[in-house]
This record gives sequence, structure tokens and C-alpha cells, in this order.
Amino acid sequence: MDIAILAAGKGTRMHSRLPKVLHPLAGRPLLAHVMETARRLEPRTLCVVYGHGGEQVPEAFAGCGALFVRQEPQLGTGHALAIALPRLHPAGVILVLYGDVPLIGEATLRRMLEGRADERLTLLTAEVDDPTGYGRIVRDSAGRVVRIVEHKDASARERSIREINTGILAAPARRLAQWLARLGTDNAQGEYYLTDVVKMAVEEGFPVATVQPGTVDEVLGVNSKRDLATLERCYQRRQAERLMAQGVTLLDPERIDVRGELICGREVVIDVGCVFEGNVVLGDHTRVGPYAILRDARIGAGVEILPYTLIEEAEVGNDCRIGPYARLRPGARLAEEVHIGNFVEVKNSEIGRASKANHLAYVGDATVGRDVNIGAGTITCNYDGAQKHRTVIEDDAFIGSDTQLVAPVKVGKGATLGAGTTLTRDAPAGKLTLSRAPQVTVENWKRPVKKRDK
Ligand code: UD1
Ligand code: CA
Repeated sequence: MDIAILAAGKGTRMHSRLPKVLHPLAGRPLLAHVMETARRLEPRTLCVVYGHGGEQVPEAFAGCGALFVRQEPQLGTGHALAIALPRLHPAGVILVLYGDVPLIGEATLRRMLEGRADERLTLLTAEVDDPTGYGRIVRDSAGRVVRIVEHKDASARERSIREINTGILAAPARRLAQWLARLGTDNAQGEYYLTDVVKMAVEEGFPVATVQPGTVDEVLGVNSKRDLATLERCYQRRQAERLMAQGVTLLDPERIDVRGELICGREVVIDVGCVFEGNVVLGDHTRVGPYAILRDARIGAGVEILPYTLIEEAEVGNDCRIGPYARLRPGARLAEEVHIGNFVEVKNSEIGRASKANHLAYVGDATVGRDVNIGAGTITCNYDGAQKHRTVIEDDAFIGSDTQLVAPVKVGKGATLGAGTTLTRDAPAGKLTLSRAPQVTVENWKRPVKKRDK
């Protein structure tokens, strides 16, 4: 079995320079969703027909192993498939998918390919309430498919048919080659209609079968930003259902966005408005507060992520408490029981077990030991305008509030830094180090007073 994905169309109603199939659904191009589903069917060849938007489509999928063939100009769906055909195996079955129909399900496609799919033309059709715009499935009095008529070519009577052509079909390559060679453009749109192969099959007495999708959203296409938003919600609802079926508590399944893969342990609770991007893992008993954003993050068990926290490319050990309003940037690696509080930013730093930075701090390019207390307003001055330097803070150190650690610098084990210190040389272990202008009190000083107008 080989797969052709038609994706050359313009997408006029998207009002965008980006080719339609590159618009993101759940953070990935529409076409990527179709390609992923296609791959699960293990086709011999996966061939994408592209056209509009120049080379952007093949460039977006460079190195993915699929074949890309260009259709220029775009003369209709029959023409598009005819261009892919020479690249596909001449003896097998060809499954035709669409780059703008992203939610098509693997199980539905498997049903289309069951049994002797090489001895019939299989159409995916659906009953819809409003068939406007779609090709209609015309059947005879015995219920056999006779042909497909496009909306623009249909009579009033045909337009009342509610069984529509989804466009997705499967047929033997040899037959398709013969039929496509005979297509004409004598129709309302002056295009080569792929759908005209149905009439040809019927005339030859070649069996035509129909299959229906598991759910109607599987065959919804994207033609506008509104369709895109509708499908995004369908997709997110499915993700939410999947998570809840696994035992995840979602405070509101309508208010979660998963743009990638979210893997959850047991007893995980996710509050409203959270966004998960890339690959995110949440360990057992972890709770994510409202409006947290997690991207490519590994979160351990028993972690509490408080509201409005942003975590990207970071690792958080078991029983940590992060947020509210915390930011973990790439390379932040937290051991167990670490507390990172409000307005604390951590970048490219390891933080040891049970260390705390609870308020207003910047910890960048640092190695922090265990049981360290980082006071409010502490800053690792890691950047000298040219190079980045590391700060090392050993176990049990206490960093007083409003301290600047001018890297490269080291704070020894059990050292204490007085509040307001600007540390430019290493602080020895076990001792108090501070840099502070001596405090003075000015005698006889008078606060200025405002002059009164006379
Ligand atoms: C097509 C079907 C119609 C079906 C509908 C489902 C035909 C003639 N009609 O109509 O029966 O109900 O889809 O949505 O097939 N494409 C190309 N190259 C082209 C033309 C189209 O790659 O030259 C691609 C488009 O990118 C799109 C798909 O084929 O993904 C469908 O094209 P579109 O023009 O939207 O077909 P419809 O008129 O909607
Ligand atoms: Ca369409």
C-alpha cells in the first residue's frame, strides 16, 4: 500500500502567505498530523503533492523520508493524484489523503484497507446535516454507488443528498492509472475531478465500497481560520478525554492545551488554563496550578507547580515546589525538595536537594549545593558583556538578601554572605563574608523644607 497526500491547494480563505497545510494545529503543521497517521499504516511510499507557497512545504519536512512532488499549475484533485502516480508502486493499493484534513483516524483508514482492497474502489463517505459545498454520493434505487457529483455541478435534487464525499479513497494503482488518464475537464470548475473515477469504475463493473469514519470530526477539512480553531478544539477535547481516561484530574477539560506529548503518572491534577508543549512528563501526585506553561519539561513526583509558572527545557526533581510566577529556563535542573518561589528565574543551573530561592532572584550558570538558602533579590552576575561565567555555591550556604555574586565566584560550604554583599572573590567555607559600606549617622543634619510662596 502506498499513500498520496494531496496538499497543493492555495487556501485562499486563510488570508495568509503561509501555505494552508503549514498552519499549526496543536503546535504542529496540519500536514504533520496527516503524515503521522499515514506513517502508522506503514505505507511503502508516502508521497505529498504540494504546489502553492513554493518550496516551503518540502522545506518544512526536509529529511522526513517522504517524497514531495510539485503540482504546478493546480488543475484539480484528479490532476494532483496523476502527478503522484508515477512515484508510487504500480501494482499496489493507493490510499489518497488530504493535507488539510488533519484528524483522520488510523482505525478508520484501516477499515478502508481491510480485506481485498486491491479489488475494489473504497470511498470514505459521511452523512452530514449541511452538505453544502461537498461532492454528493449518488446511489441507485438498490443503494449502489453510481457516481459522485460536485456541489457546483449538482441538480437541486442531488443537492438534497446528505451523504457526502470526504475525498479520501483507496483503489488499486493499475485501475487509477487507467481512469486518471481518461479524466476530462468538462465540469463547472473546468478541473480534473478525481471524483469522476467513481463513474468509470461503475461503468466497468468494478466494485465500489463505502466506509464511514468513526466520528465526523475525522473528516473535517480546514479552509478558514474558523475551521482551524474548530479543529483545534476537537483535537484538544480528544487530548483531554485521553488524559482523563488515564486517571488525570482536569479541573476543566475545556481549558487545557496540549501541543505535543504529555505523559502523566498517577493522581496528577491539572488546574485550568495550562499549556503543555513539546514533550512533558509529570510524575505521580504532581499538581499543576492554573495558567502554568510547560515546554519540554520533566517533572518528578509530588511536585507542586503553583499558578503562572513557566518551565521550559528543565528538569524538576520529586517533591519540589515551584512558583507562583516562577520561571525555569533551559538547563535548569532541580534535585528533590527544591523551592523556587515568585519572580525567581533559574537558567542553566543545577540546584541541590532542599535548597530554596523563594523570592525575586536570578540564578544563571550556577551550581548550587544542598540546603542552600538564596535570599530575596540575589543575583548571579554571570555575564560580563562578552563571556558567561559560573557561580558555585556549596552545601548549606546562606546567601543574604540582595547579594550580587560576580562570576566566576565560589561560596564555600556552610558560608554565610551578609545582606547586600557584592561578592567578587570566593567566600571561604563556614565563615561570614560581607561587603558593605560602613553605616553612618550624620549628626545635625536637617531635612530640607519646601519654600512657602509669599
Ligand atoms: C473535493 C472533492 C469533493 C469533496 C471535498 C471534500 C473533488 C473534485 N472534489 O472538493 O467531492 O466533497 O473535496 O473536502 O475531488 N488539491 C491539490 N491540487 C489541486 C486541487 C486540490 O492538491 O489541483 C488538494 C487541495 O490542497 C485540498 C484537496 O486537494 O487538500 C481538495 O481540494 P479542494 O479544491 O478543496 O476540493 P473541493 O472542491 O473541496
Ligand atoms: Ca475542500
